[in-house]
Formats: sequence, structure tokens, C-alpha cells
Amino acid sequence: MSWRDFWNGEHAIYVSERHKALHYRRIALDLAALVPSPDAVVLDHGCGEALSADLVASAAGRLILCEAAPNVRDRLRARFGRLSNLAVVSPEEVEALPEASLDLVVANSLLQYLSIDELKQLLGLWLGKLEPGGQLILADVIPPDLSPLTDATELLAFGWRGGFFFAALAGLVRTVFSDYRKLRAQYGLTTYDAATITGLIAGAGYEQVAPHPNFGHNPHRMAFSARKPA
Ligand SMILES: C[S@@+](CC[C@H](N)C(=O)[O-])C[C@H]1O[C@@H](n2cnc3c(N)ncnc32)[C@H](O)[C@@H]1O
Repeated sequence: MSWRDFWNGEHAIYVSERHKALHYRRIALDLAALVPSPDAVVLDHGCGEALSADLVASAAGRLILCEAAPNVRDRLRARFGRLSNLAVVSPEEVEALPEASLDLVVANSLLQYLSIDELKQLLGLWLGKLEPGGQLILADVIPPDLSPLTDATELLAFGWRGGFFFAALAGLVRTVFSDYRKLRAQYGLTTYDAATITGLIAGAGYEQVAPHPNFGHNPHRMAFSARKPA
């Protein structure tokens, strides 16, 4: 099994339906707050289930959800097909978008599943697709020294605040025996320190590369903002 198979199949990365709903609502609110204007074109790359993408679509002119897993894309289309300003696309279809057509590109909790070469390729792709002055946000980037215990504690705290504490506790125990643990042990997750990721983003041709408050519930993971030169 690869990461791609993992995301395409049934998995228990969200400990309950409530966790999943609260997670995606929070990500959508964080993303919607960055939409620069009501007619902005926004790409959410590696969007996952994006259960609250309608909140982002209502703040933007057009929302493009890019997801590598075909089964997830099917579910997104079933859920959001009625929204005329929302499109669900594959990574290959992002390559076919017109140059300089996006105002905001966000990738949340994606980089850990990509190799450094894949990230470099995507940084170049996004730069071409962004309008001059357009913004890139890379969020939920895992620093090398982040202990899985800290992630677990943040999940429990999110569960406590969100009313799914006991589901979070049970979910953490399940994770120990899960495909996620096995895949993580086999392939690892790609981590970055702040200087390395800043250098990669700037090296790809972006400017104003700066730390940004993270999306979602875990402040120990990092986020970065950058812009295409105007
Ligand atoms: C941890 S989930 C994050 C989902 C969502 N962005 C969030 O923050 O909850 C990672 C998602 O990225 C997708 N993915 C992995 N590699 C991708 C790629 N190269 N292009 C697009 N999506 C990808 C996976 O299928 C999975 O749904």
C-alpha cells in the first residue's frame, strides 16, 4: 500500500464524524479568511474530503479543489456538484489550468506526503498558475523535531474543546495498530525546518516568504505565506 492507496481507501484518520466535521469546518474558515476578494479564484491543492468547502466557495469567485485520490474526488463531486463556482479536479488537470489564473493557492497538510522533488515541481507549477502578486499558503508543515506525542496531545485538546475527547483517545489507540502507522514507519513523512522550506519557496521564485499562523488546531505545525512577484 502507498500513501495514494491509503487516501483513496477507507481510513480512520478522523477519530469520529464530529472530528472530521469540526476539522474541515476550521480549515475552511481559515482558508476563507484569506480569500482576497469576492471574485478571487482559489485553488485548494490536496483538499481531502473538504466537507465545508461551500464556505470557501461562498467567499470566492471560483474554488478549485484538487485531490489525487479518485474516490475522494467522486465524493466531493457528489457533495458539491450543485455549486456552479466549485470545480473538483485531479493533479493533472491543475497542470492544464491557464497560466496566471489563480489569486490564492493553499496546500494544507499535504507536504508531508510528498518528496522534496515533488514539492519543488509543485512550487514551480503553482508559481506559473498564480497571478502576479497572488498568494501561496503552505500550512500544517511538520517540523523535524515535532514528536508524535505532541500531535497526540493537540488532538486530545481539540477533542476536549470539540466534544469528542473519548473518541480521540480511542482513535489514538487504533492508530497504533493502523495502516497509517505502518505506512509512516515504511515511507516516513517529509518534514522541514523553517529555514529549509523558506529557502525552497524563495528558490522557486516567490517573494515575501514569511511564517504564517497555522491552519487548523495544531500550532506546533508550521505555515508559510509567499507571493508571486508582481
Ligand atoms: C492529510 S490529507 C489533507 C486534506 C486537507 N487538505 C486537510 O487539511 O484536511 C492529504 C490529502 O492530500 C491528497 N494528496 C496527496 N498527494 C497529492 C497530490 N500530489 N496532489 C493532490 N492531492 C494529493 C491525499 O489524497 C489526501 O486526501
